[in-house]
Amino acid sequence: MRIRPDLREIPPYRPGRSIVDVAREWGLEVSEIIKLASNECPLPPFPEVQEAVAAAVGGIHRYPDNDAGEAREALAAHVGVEPDQIWVGAGSSELLRIMALAVGGPGTSAVYAWPSFVIYRLATTLAMSEPVEVPLDAGMAHDPEAMLAALRDDTTIVYLCNPNNPTGTLLDAETVASFVERVPPDVLVVVDEAYHEYVTDDRHVSAVRLVEDHPNVVVARTLSKIYGLAGLRVGYAVGQAETVAELRRPQAPFSVNSLAQVAAVEAIRHPGRVEERRELNRRGREVLERGLAELGVPYVPSQTNFVFFRPGPDTDLTAERFLGHGVVIRSLSKGWVRVTVGSEEENRRFLQVLAAELDRLRRPSF
Ligand SMILES: Cc1ncc(COP(=O)(O)O)c(C=O)c1O
Repeated sequence: MRIRPDLREIPPYRPGRSIVDVAREWGLEVSEIIKLASNECPLPPFPEVQEAVAAAVGGIHRYPDNDAGEAREALAAHVGVEPDQIWVGAGSSELLRIMALAVGGPGTSAVYAWPSFVIYRLATTLAMSEPVEVPLDAGMAHDPEAMLAALRDDTTIVYLCNPNNPTGTLLDAETVASFVERVPPDVLVVVDEAYHEYVTDDRHVSAVRLVEDHPNVVVARTLSKIYGLAGLRVGYAVGQAETVAELRRPQAPFSVNSLAQVAAVEAIRHPGRVEERRELNRRGREVLERGLAELGVPYVPSQTNFVFFRPGPDTDLTAERFLGHGVVIRSLSKGWVRVTVGSEEENRRFLQVLAAELDRLRRPSF
């Protein structure tokens, strides 16, 4: 077989460990394990969404609506644009990958911050583009000036992850707007707002408002996070109609299943519940941040449903020690790890484990 050799550069995506896996490896009961590694919502989908999905199950012998017409209409009304400006995907990560393919290819480059969402790196390799990774600034936030300086003549796409995964940092609305103004119009700017609904800082405004004047701007959103639909795979992108129509071309037919479409329509009908979840998350985030501060553990103040922190020098040791207590967190690098805001009980348990393990985690690694 002659498989593209460059694909070997794509490390397999490392999803947060499954509960069943961890239980087996550590000899724990599944019920003892808490998963705080994938920035999922600790709450199930809204009851109305569960009912709508259950009612639609009887229709899944048919292919789904390839244009996701009802979902596009509902999402368009939700964000205040026209339906032909909405593009629905099997999770926003599908859309991110397709955009990379649509504008990439040999002889192109893609600019993004690092560390940031790993899919930008994977999609860039898949698209045969050259990655240009721009380090975050000292506060672990995007460095827009450095990113602008990194744009090259062959750059066709630049990603802004706002707020950023894994650091939880935010670029304010003015900074995003002035960044977009300064990017050449032939470069696609993808603003990834997967965690938009969790932001509580008033200086944040969605980049959706920039789409009207900028055909090269696309905003990616997901229903995997605050809406609790990660397992169904549904996300969407907002851009000008012609931009969206062009970018969509490489998408596989019927990629968004019919239950996901039904769930998306129902989920956005409940803004009050989203507000409640935002507030619940804010409180949980505060508990984690306060706990980290009290233990003297460095962390980055977050605007998302996760917190990036560094209890000691050894990332893998940290993740392993947590696993031994049945708490799954995400290891990153240079001692940094990420924990998702969980339920009250989960947050409490996470802090207990941290307090119990901290002395060991702080020792220098060899
Ligand atoms: C920054 C960012 N963008 C996009 C996504 C993709 O979400 P999904 O494909 O579930 O919509 C995630 C998921 O973790 C993320 O962290």
